[in-house]
Amino acid sequence: MKKVVVMASGEGSNFSAIVDFGIIVDRVITDNPNANVIKRAEKVNVPVFVVENKKKERVWHERTILEIIPEDTDLIVMAGYMRILTAWFCNKWKDKMVNIHPSLLPAFGGGCHAIEDAWNHGCTVFGITVHWVIPEVDAGPIITQRAIHKFTDDTLESITGKIHRVEHYVYPETIKKLIS
Ligand code: GRF
Repeated sequence: MKKVVVMASGEGSNFSAIVDFGIIVDRVITDNPNANVIKRAEKVNVPVFVVENKKKERVWHERTILEIIPEDTDLIVMAGYMRILTAWFCNKWKDKMVNIHPSLLPAFGGGCHAIEDAWNHGCTVFGITVHWVIPEVDAGPIITQRAIHKFTDDTLESITGKIHRVEHYVYPETIKKLIS
């Protein structure tokens, strides 16, 4: 069986979608002790490791995470992990780490408000991108994308909901293909 590790900092809806799709997640790593993903993981008996980083250094944080990630991990799945990883960490897991971003990269990469930024920019096509992680943020080779068209009655809220719903089937499907 392939070993999948999820890294997440927040709600964890993508984590749940991945599990619901039938993908076995070996463990979850979070940097946020209040992240809802912790509750979601506990509910489905997936071990969670909390590595806080309040006053600690980035290198300390990543060394600690590296000790938690099994050497034989096949895929690290970033699902809303809100920290920028060092080149050292990215290169260690080159071609084994994926991320999902709620925009059609390279548009609106590098930030935490991609959907809102696209909305404020007047975009009529939104989307999601699954990509390999490289040291440059949201810039790795694209694995797959989906476009989501804005309808006249859409609001920022409704388009955000549509984007997340698309994430919840595209990410698990993509992960499944990658580990098959
Ligand atoms: C998703 O929108 C994902 O695209 C972005 O962070 C969000 C995570 O949401 N990278 P959740 O924690 O999985 O609900």
